Amino acid sequence: MPRKTAARAPTDNALAEKAEREVRAALGNPRPRRLIPPGTKGDDTLRPLCRIIGGKRASAKALWARFPEPSTIRVYAEPFCGFAAVFGHGVQNGYLRPGEQRCILVDISAHLIALLTAVRSDPEGLLYTCAMRYAEAYARDPKLTYAAVRSAWNDGKNRDAAMYLFLRQTLFNGLWRETKYGAMNTPRGDTNGLRLPGIEVAKAWQGALQHVELIAGDYTDAVSILEPDDLAGYCVYCDPPYLGGEVNYAHGGWTEADLIELVKWCAELDERGAFVGLSNHDHPLVRDALEAHWPRALISPLEERRAVNSDGNKRGPVPTVLAHSVGRP
Ligand SMILES: C[S@@+](CC[C@H](N)C(=O)[O-])C[C@H]1O[C@@H](n2cnc3c(N)ncnc32)[C@H](O)[C@@H]1O
Repeated sequence: MPRKTAARAPTDNALAEKAEREVRAALGNPRPRRLIPPGTKGDDTLRPLCRIIGGKRASAKALWARFPEPSTIRVYAEPFCGFAAVFGHGVQNGYLRPGEQRCILVDISAHLIALLTAVRSDPEGLLYTCAMRYAEAYARDPKLTYAAVRSAWNDGKNRDAAMYLFLRQTLFNGLWRETKYGAMNTPRGDTNGLRLPGIEVAKAWQGALQHVELIAGDYTDAVSILEPDDLAGYCVYCDPPYLGGEVNYAHGGWTEADLIELVKWCAELDERGAFVGLSNHDHPLVRDALEAHWPRALISPLEERRAVNSDGNKRGPVPTVLAHSVGRP
């Protein structure tokens, strides 16, 4: 007599397996990879965690070529850090050793700083939480899932780093945009399945950020927390939002008046002995502000490929300029 088999729930099993596949796919290759120590040639484990409009990964090498000789840097500050591509390149190549040098990363977005803080304390927990919570639902119905998470975000009750990471990885073109009331309104990007940063990337950031001061606030907080008169040995790299794009990183935006204040601030730090670099759109308004308020800055073009327009036809390379203090010491 055939043995009776226990009633099975194939649908549940199939769903569970599918969910597991989606979580695994979101987490990338789950096999642990050898962590390559910072400073190893050709390694790019410290690539930015998320894409961001205006991210400087492609320009980081050219920027470091103009920065002071690394051994002379006592304090490194990035007051508009975003996902800190330039800092990451510095650590990766052994130019920066947080802990031995003081490193300060500031961004006005408290959510972005909270994400960097979460990666620093528990990279695996963050990635797993994000994958377990969203990967399967997103694979099943990307449109609905994105809309639901964005609306939960805008409700403001249960915001956390995993929710922010999900939105950052699935939004359109790296562009986090908020209305004047603070509601995030970026449409969904063209992503097929949730793809999170690799565990090895998140762990590399955990290491790099250990001794870094992470500050959510205005750019002036980067140096006002120190306030010595003599800023010799400081390297301050500013990468504010661009004028003339449709980019609005946070409600309130970034105006020509803001840029002029920033240029004056850069000139003041330069006067006090810091090496200051400021990149922005190579635009007449930017050139005029530099000429009027920081005349002794050296100005040179910085090639950058980035897309700033939601209209694909208007997307393309944006000419970028770097103004910086005179010479390597
Ligand atoms: C062009 S992005 C920086 C990108 C960064 N260099 C990277 O490679 O990821 C500009 C950043 O400035 C931040 N920001 C805008 N206004 C600011 C302010 N007043 N003070 C500090 N950060 C600000 C934005 O939140 C955004 O992350």
